Amino acid sequence: MDKIQITGGRKLEGEVSISGAKNAALPLIASSILIEGTCRFNNVPDLMDIKSIKLLLEDLGVTCHSEGRYLEVDGSHIHKIEAEYDLVRKMRASILVLGPLVARFGHAKVSLPGGCAIGARPVNMHLTGLEALGAKISIEHGFIEAKADRLIGNEIYFDTPTVTGTENLLMATVLAKGKSVLRNAAREPEVVCLANALIKMGAKIEGAGTAMIKIEGVDKLHPCDINIIPDRIETGTFMVAAAATGGNILVKDCIPENIGGVINKLKAAGAEMDIFEDSIRVKGKESIKSVDIKTLPYPGFPTDMQAQFMALMSIADGNCVIHESIFENRFMHANELLRMGADISISQGNYAMVKGVEKLQAAPVMASDLRASASLVIAGLIAQGTTVISRVYHMDRGYEFIEKKFAALGADIARIK
Ligand code: EPU
Repeated sequence: MDKIQITGGRKLEGEVSISGAKNAALPLIASSILIEGTCRFNNVPDLMDIKSIKLLLEDLGVTCHSEGRYLEVDGSHIHKIEAEYDLVRKMRASILVLGPLVARFGHAKVSLPGGCAIGARPVNMHLTGLEALGAKISIEHGFIEAKADRLIGNEIYFDTPTVTGTENLLMATVLAKGKSVLRNAAREPEVVCLANALIKMGAKIEGAGTAMIKIEGVDKLHPCDINIIPDRIETGTFMVAAAATGGNILVKDCIPENIGGVINKLKAAGAEMDIFEDSIRVKGKESIKSVDIKTLPYPGFPTDMQAQFMALMSIADGNCVIHESIFENRFMHANELLRMGADISISQGNYAMVKGVEKLQAAPVMASDLRASASLVIAGLIAQGTTVISRVYHMDRGYEFIEKKFAALGADIARIK
């Protein structure tokens, strides 16, 4: 299994270009199930999770053809409505095929995603939403089965905003008969990207990006070309790395307004920031101020940036509290940071007290999930000595060419096979 080796102490300098967003690409690729014909996606990142969704769709009979950043997906010949356990267990986002399958074919069977390193992550709201649209749902032998002659529009209220839940229900309601309203919907930019793509395909949607999305069902959608937005979490990860190393980098090809929560906290931590239309210059300072954070649904501080920010706070001047309010078990990286000399204590499961230390020390560490691995990379960049991170397959699920991008910014980083 690959490992990442980093010798810390270098300030990041130069420019980095941001790849297409994994969490926008996944629902978009799943949305091609809704369509007879070929959709063409541009700016598709080369990631394990993208390979996983392609494999899953191909197993259903979808044809996928990749060429560089382009991916053509043809849903004309789908012959199977069952998403197998072996494909779903690799990636929870596979649940995104449920809504489109039942909307187009009136029948879907998807392996129930199990628990996950960061929390239980139930899909109950995806299912009650589909039930509200008239689908009969049963769970047997580890599979969710949804059946409906044709989905009927309705009001759906989410107890708490759910990103993939909102996306699944958007894809279901666009082909449902009549009007639907999604209330307390997720407002993440990836939801807006999906809604815009569906509109381009002929769907009638208003209000994406707000907590209330109105949909008027149509009979059919048509294929089109779709651009995937830049990855806001990759953007934030490079910004935090620049601040942590006291570097000076230009993060290019991003959408600054999509990462406002992180910009705000980095400014409070003392980093200097110049915001341009599609790029951000981050200048780190010698001393980093401690700032409290609480993860929240968009536009709040993203849970997907909490681990990286904890690495930064571990060498800040002072103490802070990091409150993880989205997932119940998303502090696995804290124990690895402790092994590198950080001073972190966890209380009530989802509060981390971080007392800044002067220096981190290199150590062998292990990634436990995608964003935890990014946190350990940042810790390795600032630690004294050579850190070796194992289980980097987690990182390969969601960061494209990460070691190459950091090396181009001057980091001493390499992948060891
Ligand atoms: N929840 C329920 N019931 C549901 C759905 C969600 O209780 O039916 C809860 C979850 O357990 C969690 C909260 O609602 O406490 C929000 O979870 P959400 O459904 O929004 O998460 P998700 O859609 O499964 C997406 C991203 C995650 C990201 C979260 C939160 C994708 C493919 N995944 O997950 O990304 O952390 O939203 O922003 O879009 C990552 O990229 O590393 C990652 C984990």
